[in-house]
Amino acid sequence: MIVYLNGRYLPREEAKISPEDRGFLFADAIYEVVRYGAGRPYRLAEHLGRMRDGLSALRIAAEPSFFPEVAGHLVEQNDLGDADALVYAQVSRGAAPRYHAFPPEGTTPTVFAFARKTDPPPSAAGGRAILVPDERWGRCDVKAVMLLPNVLASQQAREAGAIEAILVRDGIAWEGTKANLFVRSREVVRTAPRGPRILPGVTRGAALEAAASLGYRVEERPIAVEELFTADEVFLASTTLWTYPLVEVDGRPVGGGKPGDAAARIKEILQAEFRGAPATAAKSAG
Ligand code: PDD
Repeated sequence: MIVYLNGRYLPREEAKISPEDRGFLFADAIYEVVRYGAGRPYRLAEHLGRMRDGLSALRIAAEPSFFPEVAGHLVEQNDLGDADALVYAQVSRGAAPRYHAFPPEGTTPTVFAFARKTDPPPSAAGGRAILVPDERWGRCDVKAVMLLPNVLASQQAREAGAIEAILVRDGIAWEGTKANLFVRSREVVRTAPRGPRILPGVTRGAALEAAASLGYRVEERPIAVEELFTADEVFLASTTLWTYPLVEVDGRPVGGGKPGDAAARIKEILQAEFRGAPATAAKSAG
């Protein structure tokens, strides 16, 4: 595998990062994950916008402008031009002696990126999730690499035989550890509002647009935990999953225990857009 590190393309084994990198010492870094198909990115401008917002929130002196060329190169050099691929990029505040406050002016941010094939999609029969207390920080809208609460909740899900952990705070089911959360009740498709409690997913935005184009009423407001069990369907949305139906939460059936229509129809629209089909064709496909 060829990866990118600080201006160079090199074999993964040769990519070395300083032990004093602030990404390593403090998780002082942001990241992005973008889907590529046939060498083309999905909604790149939105990913780059979020990356710019994250860099500016953390006051890391870097621009996301490196991304398109680096990603294109990684896809090509790793023979992923015909594949469905993901490009991961991370920018840390750079390497410097360990003091909490920012390093000296002029410390160069560390930029690391790699590309790989997407994983096979999970079972079409839908997935199980568990509910886990949301122990994350107060800026979940920033795509920071500081993912320890997500890691621990994700492992808890794995050990419970579930695909995802839904993070709960104040009785609200905010999102998963790596995906946004949606419910549909009759003709209303709902997800949590943008704000500090969720990551504003690129797929979330696309799914809201698609739902509206299908004639659903879309609502951005918090989802109470109990609503998961009364909704007609519950689904996740992310770069890696598109949409994905949940059929069980904490051992109780949701959505009648079967994948629902809205998630499937929205996914078709997103995938058609990704393949480059005109929006009208995408709509009639639903
Ligand atoms: N995760 N919420 C969280 C907490 C996430 O980590 C992600 C993405 C999303 C969905 O965002 P998007 O649609 O832009 O992928 C929501 C990525 C894929 C990851 O951590 O690997």
